[in-house]
Amino acid sequence: MSRKALFGIVGAGMIARFHAQAIRKTANAALAGFYDVRPDAAKQLAAEFNCRAYASLDEMLRDSEIRAVTIATPSGLHCDTVLSAAGAGKHILCEKPLDVTREKVEAMLKSCSDNHVHLVPVFQTRFTRPVQLLRKAVQEGRFGRMLFASARVHWYRTADYYSSSPWRGTWAMDGGGALINQAIHTVDQLLYLNGLPESISAYSGTLTHDIEVEDTLCASLRYANGSFGTIEASTSCKPGFPRRLELSGSSGSAVLEEDRFIRWEFETAKEEDQEIRQTLLVPGSNAGGGSAPENIPCDGHAFQISDLANAILTGSAPAVHSSEGGNTMRFIFGIYESIRSGKPYLFNNQKG
Ligand SMILES: NC(=O)c1ccc[n+]([C@@H]2O[C@H](COP(=O)([O-])OP(=O)(O)OC[C@H]3O[C@@H](n4cnc5c(N)ncnc54)[C@H](O)[C@@H]3O)[C@@H](O)[C@H]2O)c1
Repeated sequence: MSRKALFGIVGAGMIARFHAQAIRKTANAALAGFYDVRPDAAKQLAAEFNCRAYASLDEMLRDSEIRAVTIATPSGLHCDTVLSAAGAGKHILCEKPLDVTREKVEAMLKSCSDNHVHLVPVFQTRFTRPVQLLRKAVQEGRFGRMLFASARVHWYRTADYYSSSPWRGTWAMDGGGALINQAIHTVDQLLYLNGLPESISAYSGTLTHDIEVEDTLCASLRYANGSFGTIEASTSCKPGFPRRLELSGSSGSAVLEEDRFIRWEFETAKEEDQEIRQTLLVPGSNAGGGSAPENIPCDGHAFQISDLANAILTGSAPAVHSSEGGNTMRFIFGIYESIRSGKPYLFNNQKG
């Protein structure tokens, strides 16, 4: 068996370039080529990355050398491609969000399970060192009783950002706005660190952009473990701030801004705290994707590609299971349902 898993990339837009760079950086993966409904876009990236441009999705899926595809199309089209790829026996790394409706996400999870292929949701920000340190501190009980777990994504997107790709900012293809598109990674980190909420009450508005979906949203949460939290998500806050994650417990608290801790304070000190403060507790963290979507590193994508390639080549389980992606999506759909109904959305009545 080859020591590299061969990948195809479906969609050749902005994020596809990150996928290609990430595959190129990954020792156990290689890039077969791109497919895009715009043949010129596929050809351009294929020339840049020295690989093939496929003329159709079928042609790519019929390539028996390809073991996995990454899905980098508009969000509301992910399901169609995932169903075709799973039917062809390809493993899948799917961009966030998995898709834009509950029904489509459940269909994707079922099809991948039925076809025995991995469906790995791209949640690359789980794997940064600070988030892994937070996870370890949670697992070690350093926060004591968790009291608050909150996220703030006060970002800015220009009118140009929305008009440059016509699917953005639409219910049918983006599935929502600041929450499902921009804040989704920080929301996923919250669930990764503190589990699923039981109850959500949320409000949203379209306050500064000429788009269908929300550009500003606020949700209050009661988690299953008894703690509380809020989510603030926006693409209207100039100039765009680093995203913020805040965990407060009865015996410790931590605040993460993008990839830097603002606070890392626990009642019981550990030896590692000093090194963490020296390296990660520094002012002036970068704004990440706060003001522009292309300001993100591709290390997290490379980690997930390497992890999926390893799962394919060795039979191990990927670091993010499809069911976790399903839960993050059910949570996001729950927030939108609370906004639509004007009532709290209760998770204990729901699957997941
Ligand atoms: N993980 C992250 O941090 C991150 C960052 C940005 C975008 N994304 C996600 O990546 C996805 C793509 O976003 P983008 O900003 O690259 O969009 P984009 O508009 O720049 O690119 C989408 C590409 O898909 C192509 N396309 C459309 N329909 C297709 C089809 N049926 N088959 C093949 N190709 C098709 C388009 O021609 C275009 O080239 C979205 O789901 C978005 O949410 C993730």
